[in-house]
Amino acid sequence: MSDLVGYETEGRVAILPIDNPPVNALGIGVREGLMRQLDRAAADDAVDAIVIIGMGRTFPAGADIREFDQPTREPHLIGVVDHLDTIEKPVVAAIHGTALGGGLELALGCHFRVASPSARMGTPEVNLGIFPGAAGTQRLPRVAGLDHALELIVLGKPVGAHKAKDYGIVDAIIEGDLRSGAVAFAEKILADGTPRRISSEPRGGIGSPDDHAATIAKYRDLANHRMRGQESPHQAIDSVLDGMLMPYPDAVQADRKRFETCKNSDQSRALRYAFFAERETAKIPDIGKDIAQRAIANAGVIGAGTMGRGIAVSLADSGLPVTVVETSQEAIDTGLAEIAKLYDGMVRRGRIDEAEKERRLARITGAVGFDELGAADLIVEAAFEDLDVKKEIFAKLDAVAKPGAVLATNTSYMDIDAIAAVTNRPADVIGLHYFVPANAMRLLEVVRPAKAAPDAIATGMALARVTGKVGVLARVCHGFIANRSRLPLVREATFLVEEGAAPAQVDAVLTGLGMPMGPLAVSDLSGLDVSWRMRQSLAGQRDPDARYMHLADRMCELGRFGIKAGKGWYRYEDGGRNPVPDPETEAIAIEVAREQGTERRDISDDEIRERCLYAAINEGAKILDEGIAARASDIDVMWLYGFAYPRWRGGIMYTADEIGLAKIHARVQQFHAEHGKHWDPSPLLERLAAEGGFFTRPT
Ligand code: 3HC
Repeated sequence: MSDLVGYETEGRVAILPIDNPPVNALGIGVREGLMRQLDRAAADDAVDAIVIIGMGRTFPAGADIREFDQPTREPHLIGVVDHLDTIEKPVVAAIHGTALGGGLELALGCHFRVASPSARMGTPEVNLGIFPGAAGTQRLPRVAGLDHALELIVLGKPVGAHKAKDYGIVDAIIEGDLRSGAVAFAEKILADGTPRRISSEPRGGIGSPDDHAATIAKYRDLANHRMRGQESPHQAIDSVLDGMLMPYPDAVQADRKRFETCKNSDQSRALRYAFFAERETAKIPDIGKDIAQRAIANAGVIGAGTMGRGIAVSLADSGLPVTVVETSQEAIDTGLAEIAKLYDGMVRRGRIDEAEKERRLARITGAVGFDELGAADLIVEAAFEDLDVKKEIFAKLDAVAKPGAVLATNTSYMDIDAIAAVTNRPADVIGLHYFVPANAMRLLEVVRPAKAAPDAIATGMALARVTGKVGVLARVCHGFIANRSRLPLVREATFLVEEGAAPAQVDAVLTGLGMPMGPLAVSDLSGLDVSWRMRQSLAGQRDPDARYMHLADRMCELGRFGIKAGKGWYRYEDGGRNPVPDPETEAIAIEVAREQGTERRDISDDEIRERCLYAAINEGAKILDEGIAARASDIDVMWLYGFAYPRWRGGIMYTADEIGLAKIHARVQQFHAEHGKHWDPSPLLERLAAEGGFFTRPT
């Protein structure tokens, strides 16, 4: 049996180091080891107190999520946690790194908790479609009070050690060496004769659900708002309520059943898939971990428009000095003033304080022309979406940028190979496709042109990490992964309006799937003219046999650009952002349908759902087949972070597997017959449907 939990002594204190890299997850080996070593320490006459500590980078970061798909094996974690109550010698959890989920529950089972100042702790289980299932929902309210416990359990966000101390979760912060500090703490407990604190024992003051009706309602509302359609936060609250209504052992018993139901739910499986999918994105098959990224000590951004400003802020927020360049002093002044406003907003919302704002602002300087970019290690071009403009910029950059600088374009769909080709250093050119607002959106699509050097790509992926984003790699094609796979959904939404659906009906079907906004409301928000311009620039390449978005063009020709124009697919009254159905949209749709010979009819919600979703899935399959995406899960991560697809549905490719590829393929074929060329079935979809295969799991 491997020893994942050690046994050492210092004076009369036993130390049990958990050694299960990378995150000391509480798999079966660790649970068995803990039981064995706890019993050994309990029986050891030379020992009066026990310290549990994690080796390497962290205290256990939770149960081993990979075990969730296997039959459960005893001892369960709840067994270990409850066993701690019976150990008559004081047990101290010494926390560093991230004590998450089962890790925090293990610590809560210990009689005392000490932590490094940088430690973080929390119960993120709701993000996996479950809740703290090793009595966290019972013990945390007893230790931290109901409000703080619900904050951690329902919202799933960890807190730092100092806050945890304020909440009563941590007894002492240990500056310096944690292990010796924890031993000294244990010795003091012994010297003072401090009684053990058993967190399962009822402590007066938790009260009943009625006493806390307002707090409970607050967290139900927050759960509905932030985790729309997700069941686990509500299961977590129900579990906490059980603890108020039943004795501890009964509540734990009820928890067990509820936990198993949650763990086996479709939502939890999808959320676990999303957890691992997100981590897979960092693994690039032909760029091993050994390829070093290039050092980035400072950056340049070309363009101080909305995108350029957001990118500059994202870079500055991660500590990089940034030079933003524009074509005139006026454009620079406006850009810097807008950046200052952005930071003012962060201060107003309490995200940063004034001093931090000043520090971040000081990292951003403006300049006219490209000369100031000569020292930059990374330059991100965020100019107007026009291929000739971009080519001209890259030719100039080639002349001023220092050797080895990574030259990135923020284009959202253009041919980066062609942009790289105007330079004498195509190996240094990559795509960094940010999403609006660039400083807040977590997704960064890193685009890999044919000649890009592996270390330039590794640098793009590393940049995503250091700026707190999820980097997903795409090869070059029109629209890359994100926009290319979403366009068919939007296109289908507009066709459906032309055929007789109201924009509000189309949007309601998609929000019904769990997306926060429907595609037409999103178009109104981002501006219908953006894709209109793109369609115009591509007019020469249009396939005359494929159906075209005439209605979307007409909306733009009539000045219906969306919210900024007060009208788009919806109407917006008094400068507001609230979409109101507009009969004029219907009149325009009727007119365009007549011109195009489109028959208008009642359209069912099912048809809307299938056409919008399957159009995206069919395109996703083509993207995968062409090698634009390395794996189906990369497409899914794009949708989770780029388009707020509900995480508990995994992503479009995962959803496709859940629905069944044969069913989807049959419908795609039918839509192809009814609506024409833009429904060409993906050959991969066809093949997998015939084989009974999947996109996201082995067959
Ligand atoms: N189980 C299994 N594997 C895990 C894991 C876990 N709980 N946590 C992390 N890992 C794996 C990752 O998949 C990754 O594997 P890979 O190298 O093969 O891709 C490796 O550990 C490193 O993880 P990260 O890349 O995420 O490393 P970071 O340093 O960026 O982040 C972390 C570390 C903050 C701990 C992050 O991994 C994390 O949030 N982990 C999940 C925490 C969590 O959700 N805990 C609750 C689990 S459920 C539970 O405890 C149920 C209980 O109530 C009964």
